[in-house]
Amino acid sequence: MIRNETYILPNGVEIPKLGLGTWFIPDAQAAEAVKAAVSVGYRHFDTAQAYENERGVGEGVCTCGLPREQLFVTSKVAAEHKDHASAARSIDETLSKMGLDYLDLMIIHSPQPWAGFRGGDYAAGNREAWRALEDAYAAGKLRAIGVSNFKKEDLDNILSSCKVRPMVNQILLHISNTDLALLDYCKAQGILVEAYSPIAHGEALKNGQIAAMAQKYGVSPAALCVRYVLELGAVALPKTADPAHMEDNTAVDFSISAGDMEALKQIAPIESYGAVSHFPVFSGK
Ligand SMILES: NC(=O)c1ccc[n+]([C@@H]2O[C@H](COP(=O)([O-])OP(=O)(O)OC[C@H]3O[C@@H](n4cnc5c(N)ncnc54)[C@H](OP(=O)(O)O)[C@@H]3O)[C@@H](O)[C@H]2O)c1
Repeated sequence: MIRNETYILPNGVEIPKLGLGTWFIPDAQAAEAVKAAVSVGYRHFDTAQAYENERGVGEGVCTCGLPREQLFVTSKVAAEHKDHASAARSIDETLSKMGLDYLDLMIIHSPQPWAGFRGGDYAAGNREAWRALEDAYAAGKLRAIGVSNFKKEDLDNILSSCKVRPMVNQILLHISNTDLALLDYCKAQGILVEAYSPIAHGEALKNGQIAAMAQKYGVSPAALCVRYVLELGAVALPKTADPAHMEDNTAVDFSISAGDMEALKQIAPIESYGAVSHFPVFSGK
């Protein structure tokens, strides 16, 4: 049952395979969304300093009725923090905003500030930010640490100088957008991949080939999308504040055949992410 399934991070920490994405859930609605998700069976929540809903997500975690240790909470150091002091300060601010003593996972949101995504030289800045994560990890404020949107060269920059190796890399991963080389590299380095936008920010639901494959398996297109990234060995982070959709996204206790996985990998890339196409994570810049 997906509700009980976990991966084990290199330091032995268990991470639920399914987590609730919270990007675009407003702060005022985030606590209700977290509590609804807990009722459905979610135990893993993904927020970020940049989402401006850490307070609400923290409130949901603190008031959902479950002991803190039964929940897995992730946030992200804002992409703009590329020095030790500001990254370290931001981690303390996150803990304070969320009302938590520790986070289960904190990751660097992006190797470059968003205004210069996939450009510039931030190698030294990323090593500085990473050192802040290592320090917070050593201090017991974070149970695990990782990165997001890191390509091979960004990972190598950290791996060549770190005391603690990145435990996860959260990347854009969905049917029609599968970077197999990066997946393989992360696996070889013992870095767990987390799939963000597993439903292509909703755009996958408009794709006829995905709909047809979902029909073949008797599941919804959203559930097929979630199952696809799980089959690749990644964490799935579908976002919704709708309890019916939350429930639907847990209906993934089936497997996709190897042949159908190959067919799904070959689906032509989704060309537009609609109203958010201009965001760096979707436009590549
Ligand atoms: N690290 C990064 O840089 C980064 C970047 C992007 C995303 N993320 C993380 O990944 C999470 C997920 O990505 P995302 O928010 O871009 O999008 P997503 O999860 O791929 O798709 C969300 C969209 O799908 C719809 N949806 C979800 N479940 C559904 C269902 N069962 N049936 C029908 N529609 C459904 C949602 O609508 P409703 O809300 O109406 O249900 C929403 O429009 C984010 O929330 C965030 O936590 C991280």
